[in-house]
Amino acid sequence: MSMNRPPTIEWKDGKVSMIDQTLLPGELKILEISDYHLVAEAIQSLKIRGAPAIGIAGAYGLVLAANQYGGNNLDEFTVQIQDAAKLLISTRPTAVNLSWAIKKLLNKVKESLLNDINKIRSLLLTEANSILKEDYISCKKIGQYGARLLPESATGLTHCNAGGLATGNYGTALGVIFSAVESGKNIKMYVDETRPLLQGARLTTWELQRAEIETTLITDNMAGHVMANGDIDFVIVGADRIANNGDVANKIGTYSIAVLADYHKIPFYVAAPVSTIDFDSKTGDDIPIEERNPLEVTHGFGITTAPAGTKVYSPAFDVTPNSLVTAIITDKGVFAAPYGNLKDKLLDSK
Ligand code: MRU
Repeated sequence: MSMNRPPTIEWKDGKVSMIDQTLLPGELKILEISDYHLVAEAIQSLKIRGAPAIGIAGAYGLVLAANQYGGNNLDEFTVQIQDAAKLLISTRPTAVNLSWAIKKLLNKVKESLLNDINKIRSLLLTEANSILKEDYISCKKIGQYGARLLPESATGLTHCNAGGLATGNYGTALGVIFSAVESGKNIKMYVDETRPLLQGARLTTWELQRAEIETTLITDNMAGHVMANGDIDFVIVGADRIANNGDVANKIGTYSIAVLADYHKIPFYVAAPVSTIDFDSKTGDDIPIEERNPLEVTHGFGITTAPAGTKVYSPAFDVTPNSLVTAIITDKGVFAAPYGNLKDKLLDSK
């Protein structure tokens, strides 16, 4: 299945090039960024979003910070990198791939014992490129493992966007769908629009249509109705952070879909690379939940939808307890309930 569009993110001519996802589906605009502060802004404002994609963006942001340093003092250079790392990590607290990718780069520099600024710069770029490349390979593996779980002919429901736009071009939850279709399965999809920022309506339908997969868009509050009608055979979503016990943080509204799926006895799958599992979060209670600007709820896309002064609560993510998750599809295989301790399970699977 060809992507048939520019890459979500890539390193090009000394700059980070990325699709501005806030403009889709109306406009396909490529941003070329050479200042790490602007990468931080792009992540914060969701120009680039989705857990693996913001990890890749954060890594390239760090490369820019290294390149932007104009002097030749190693201590000053190190301070600039550390400051940039802090800023980039602070932009979105829930998706663990962001801090995972940045810490991975910092550790590589530490382990290398390099003290030549230019050599450190090129090490950072090599590592950022490999995070992007490995994400694509991981998503392909997730796709292959996940596709085996789906029937020959089925209709799925997804929430938010866990496609190529949210990753290094292939997708986790949508990667499973793409893989299943590539292997000849007849898969149709329902897509939740995903309030308040409409990643489902704007981005997932865009990707599925480009892949020529039959897609039906619904508003979030229609999911129970289509399940009760018998229209949904499986639910598949991505994740922003998975706790060691299998609790899953994903886009706000995921938990409600999981409860509905459980009630209707529909399998609820989560697809994510192992880099999304945070072994330090014992349970979902340990996962920080990002809160977004209330204006995204009251003035979405420039339209006033609530009276001035309305009190708003806008968590960007929720936690689905592991008891509602039928299986977690990773690049290292499929883990089914009971999850117990994912770290031990992953070690056993090696
Ligand atoms: O706020 P967003 O658009 O970054 O939220 C994205 C999601 O919730 C995705 O489902 C998740 O990051 C997985 S992406 C493969």
